[in-house]
Amino acid sequence: MIGIFDSGVGGLSVLKEIRKVLPEEKYIYFSDSAYCPYGEKTKDQIIDRAREITSFLLDAGADIITVACNTATAAAISVLREEFQVSFIGMEPAVKPAAMSTRTGVVGVLATAGTLKADKYINTRGRFSEGVKIVEHVGQGFVEAVEKGITTGPEAEDIVRASLKPLLDEGADRIVLGCTHYPFLMETIKKVSDELYPERDVEIIDPAPAVARHLLEVMEDKGLIRHDGYSMVLETSGDKGQLERMYKKLIIE
Ligand code: DGL
Repeated sequence: MIGIFDSGVGGLSVLKEIRKVLPEEKYIYFSDSAYCPYGEKTKDQIIDRAREITSFLLDAGADIITVACNTATAAAISVLREEFQVSFIGMEPAVKPAAMSTRTGVVGVLATAGTLKADKYINTRGRFSEGVKIVEHVGQGFVEAVEKGITTGPEAEDIVRASLKPLLDEGADRIVLGCTHYPFLMETIKKVSDELYPERDVEIIDPAPAVARHLLEVMEDKGLIRHDGYSMVLETSGDKGQLERMYKKLIIE
């Protein structure tokens, strides 16, 4: 069984991509909504949550874990790998493909404060920033909007514009989504970019398809693929009805 977790419903954007490459597997998804957002929490707080959720998922039968959260990956994945025997797949902002394809020479990264200040991200940026300017902004209010199911419309557009415009004003033509909640705002991010800079043809980059392919490879390698029929267990530290509604809205519709 594939275990997936996030601070909330953001990891469903990763699950969506994973299901495309592994459609016949059993899944358990844990949304830590009682502790959401992670973005402003300390590293130790996030490590504690990641540890507890991992134990829960393993007890429930998971044999591989996807940390479908950039903030938790940056804060906790190395500790999890030390403490648990199972394989972990993590998230990483897709700075590399953005840096390789930018035409303006400016890459914008949207992520949580926790991800942007983590060594893991700072190292990634350092490796791929040669000859490219990288500008960053916290997606202020993005996580909260997605948790409420606000992904399109005037309210979502106002929220997106406030954090996206500074990156576009710097010249960015690639916007890297460094938080798994943000892909649910993809349509709005594209709309706002096209309105602000219609000539620039801004590309929004979500690492989830690459993460899904990586998970597939690791599972093939470890003989973990079962092909025994899709099923989904949804678990949360918060309101289960809310998670089920969001799962239907974000994944099924
Ligand atoms: N979805 C998460 C991430 O990828 C965390 C958002 C949050 O809880 O602040 O970073």
